[in-house]
Amino acid sequence: MACRLNGRMWLAAAAALGSCFSLFAHAAGDSGLGEKKFYTCFGCHGVENYRNAYPDYSVPKLRHQNAAYIISALQEYRSGDRPHATMHAQTASLTDQDMEDIAAYLQGPEPVKPSTLVSGTVPTQVATCAACHGENGLGVDAPLVPKPPLLAGQHVDYLEQAIAAYRNGRRKNAVMNGMAQTLASDADVKVVAEYFSRQYSPLVTAKTGGK
Ligand code: HEC
Ligand code: HEC
Repeated sequence: MACRLNGRMWLAAAAALGSCFSLFAHAAGDSGLGEKKFYTCFGCHGVENYRNAYPDYSVPKLRHQNAAYIISALQEYRSGDRPHATMHAQTASLTDQDMEDIAAYLQGPEPVKPSTLVSGTVPTQVATCAACHGENGLGVDAPLVPKPPLLAGQHVDYLEQAIAAYRNGRRKNAVMNGMAQTLASDADVKVVAEYFSRQYSPLVTAKTGGK
């Protein structure tokens, strides 16, 4: 908050708090370090179409996903709030700083900007989702907290199982447990997952070498 001040107020606040820039630098994470810390993660998240076993679905694409969402996802795996044995093991030894660095690397300097580009006809089931995820799954131009993830271009089977997990309560989230209930059937879940997955998107599988 102090960083939103300007002019003399900013100087006074900066003097009182130490340095506003260091607060920024900390919040942003170090993407160079993040790429190194992502080394073991490339084994799954760096392989195109790599799959989770039992149940079988694609490992999610992470490159250019929103940093704020990545941090909260990693924290939830570490605490066990988001149940997944492999990701719990992967995050158990990560510090908050590691998570911020990894998120800075994965997202890149800025979160993906929302756009109005739509591929195909927008299904009626998507109307509710658009308020937070954007009509095309690239997000909306509003400072939402918690920051919703990009859905555009994500693997269709990953989206489908994620929505199903919110619907049956296995994956707990105050917002999404309710939202998933607006989809009346498995067929609706499929329609929405297919629609978002085929939208244009910068979201891709991470690649070594800064790509
Ligand atoms: C053995 C394969 C494997 C490895 C290694 C792995 N992951 Fe994952 N990761 C997965 C799978 C599978 C999921 C989806 C789990 C679920 O359904 O919640 C996932 C989910 C995630 C998500 C949530 C994405 C979303 O859209 O919600 C993040 C973030 C993530 N992993 C980061 C990492 C990081 C960081 C590392 C390294 C420290 C890592 N993963 C290592 C398999 C792996
Ligand atoms: C009020 C805002 C809001 C609305 C409306 C909303 N979402 Fe979400 N969505 C979120 C937030 C916040 C998260 C992150 C939740 C978490 O951390 O588990 C999320 C997460 C998701 C995820 C998980 C993606 C991933 O990478 O794991 C999917 C899939 C999803 N939403 C689909 C939908 C669909 C489909 C609809 C419409 C039926 C919808 N959402 C409506 C805010 C919203």
